[in-house]
Amino acid sequence: MPPAKLPRKAQQESQRRVLSERKTSHLDLCEHEQVEYRGKTTLFEEVELIHNSLPELALADIDVGVDFLGKRLRAPLLITGMTGGTDDSFAVNRDLAIVAERCGIGFGLGSQRVMQRDPSTQWTFAVRQFAPSVLLFANIGLTQASDTDTEATRELVESTGADVLCVHLNPAQELIQPEGDRSFRNGYATLARLSGELDVPVVAKETGCGLSPQVVQGLRAAGIGHADISGAGGTSWVRVETLRGHGVSRRLGETFSNWGIPTAASLAMLRGCSIDLIASGGIRNGLEMAKAFALGARLCGVALPIFRAYRESGIDGALAYVDELVSGLKTAMLLTGSRSLGELSKQPLVLGPQLRTWMTAGAVRPTTE
Ligand SMILES: Cc1cc2nc3c(=O)[nH]c(=O)nc-3n(C[C@H](O)[C@H](O)[C@H](O)COP(=O)(O)O)c2cc1C
Repeated sequence: MPPAKLPRKAQQESQRRVLSERKTSHLDLCEHEQVEYRGKTTLFEEVELIHNSLPELALADIDVGVDFLGKRLRAPLLITGMTGGTDDSFAVNRDLAIVAERCGIGFGLGSQRVMQRDPSTQWTFAVRQFAPSVLLFANIGLTQASDTDTEATRELVESTGADVLCVHLNPAQELIQPEGDRSFRNGYATLARLSGELDVPVVAKETGCGLSPQVVQGLRAAGIGHADISGAGGTSWVRVETLRGHGVSRRLGETFSNWGIPTAASLAMLRGCSIDLIASGGIRNGLEMAKAFALGARLCGVALPIFRAYRESGIDGALAYVDELVSGLKTAMLLTGSRSLGELSKQPLVLGPQLRTWMTAGAVRPTTE
């Protein structure tokens, strides 16, 4: 009966409004405020590549192309998921997807939770027509994925024409967000169900706190073959929520402002693990990308700096930023005598003391009966 439908619609509408307002406030804070870690770095400054004075290469010989998840990328880069759900966020998605298409790199949509609540927002994630060949990542939070059956998740992915689904893990952000989730049970089972039942690959994606070897071991056991480590040192979602919070939640955020595994430490701890890693979280230049590849990453990801470059100078600003990253990467490759990313991944490295401490502490202990 029509009257019975009204409260549900009204409820849907109010949930959509809450999610949209939160997304708008996240974008505003990320554009204008200091939202990166202040007391912690990625630790890339503790990674040194060894200079080669006679590389026997020309810049034109360097190949930064990579095959990833079934597509050939011209550069080993992904614009990681940020937004969707509002008119403004559609423009960001569309324009950054255009940038990704032109540069031959990957593109990630932001959390599609709002679309789950209100399917009429689907158009704000519809970038395929602007980026027909891009490697496109759909995005959903682990808690939402856990509460949703596989069929509904499949529709979420298919409606965007995505090639891959990122399931984001953000317990630190949720716990600081006053209205955030409080239960993170059932995570591995959800990932195992999705990786077993969906037709597209599933990437487990952190959101700025890094992945540990123990977690990656669990992901592997759940059938996950790809993970975005998104480590600490770049955008801090604890910090974003702290800026939004008041009173107790603000103080809780301040207490945890340096929480997380630095990006280079996460990579160093995961060296030789059997899943393909995307390195993101605080990657800001091509030299850091090169260090990430030498530490075993297969792809690098950036969010905040490309969003800011876009806000400042539009599509051209974002294109220039990608160019700058790729030039820096090629420079580091030439200076280490690496013709390809494969060769770069075999280069010797000098690692600083903090990184070595993380590596010792993070070693997976054999399980005892
Ligand atoms: C404005 C903004 C919005 C974001 N929204 C999402 C999101 O919806 N889903 C997600 O998985 N990650 C989201 N992230 C996290 C990024 O994808 C990335 O993991 C994190 O910001 C670390 O990378 P960075 O230091 O280069 O920003 C967002 C980041 C930014 C800057």
